Amino acid sequence: MIPKEEIRKNLEDGLPILIYDFDGREEETDMMFYAGVIDWKKIYILRKEAGGLICYATGSEEGKKLGLKFQTDILLNSEYKQLVKLPQYGDKPAFSLWVNHVNTRTGISDNDRALTILKLHEIISELKEDEKSAVKRFYTEFYAPGHVPILLSRGIGERHGHTELSTTLAEYVGLERSVVIAEMLDEGKSLSKEKVIKYARNMGFLLIEGKEILKEVIA
Ligand code: 5RP
Ligand code: CA
Ligand code: ZN
Repeated sequence: MIPKEEIRKNLEDGLPILIYDFDGREEETDMMFYAGVIDWKKIYILRKEAGGLICYATGSEEGKKLGLKFQTDILLNSEYKQLVKLPQYGDKPAFSLWVNHVNTRTGISDNDRALTILKLHEIISELKEDEKSAVKRFYTEFYAPGHVPILLSRGIGERHGHTELSTTLAEYVGLERSVVIAEMLDEGKSLSKEKVIKYARNMGFLLIEGKEILKEVIA
């Protein structure tokens, strides 16, 4: 595994880390940025270079403190429960609510999504110091539905998705469980592992596999 310090420095310097999950799961690579340093240019890179759905991911503890539920649990308690099915690769989804910060205009521009994510990061960071104030800020400063999906980790012991891998990696290097991820796509399909390896080499980006993260945190 790449040294912790190198991963942390890359994330703090605003460089992406590429995370390939597992053969036999999604077999996808997500581009990940640390949410604390997000700006419009990184949202632009995520949509132009990665191309997948730009999501904010955090831990289950943080989600609980904010009173956030999984979308599937919300739907199971509604007239839409018939729509709750598992994706082909089998995992329960990590999706919670989709939000916008109140100071965004439409919510979708690079500037707007960067603002929403940066404010989510501020609130997640504040949870440790002043939980009450952070929770109050979340419910007054955001509205739903918005353009930034929040993903909640189910814990790396329970689920091995990019949500768990990316938030675990951030925590492992001593940062908040507060990241932005998007799948790397190709024409008509996800970008193959071979192409991801070449891309990472050309760009000088770190590429980490789920199995390396598991080995490191479960060891
Ligand atoms: C949201 C997704 C992606 O797969 C993303 O990588 C996070 O999900 P998971 O934790 O299932 O890998 O579904 O676009
Ligand atoms: Ca998924
Ligand atoms: Zn994924």
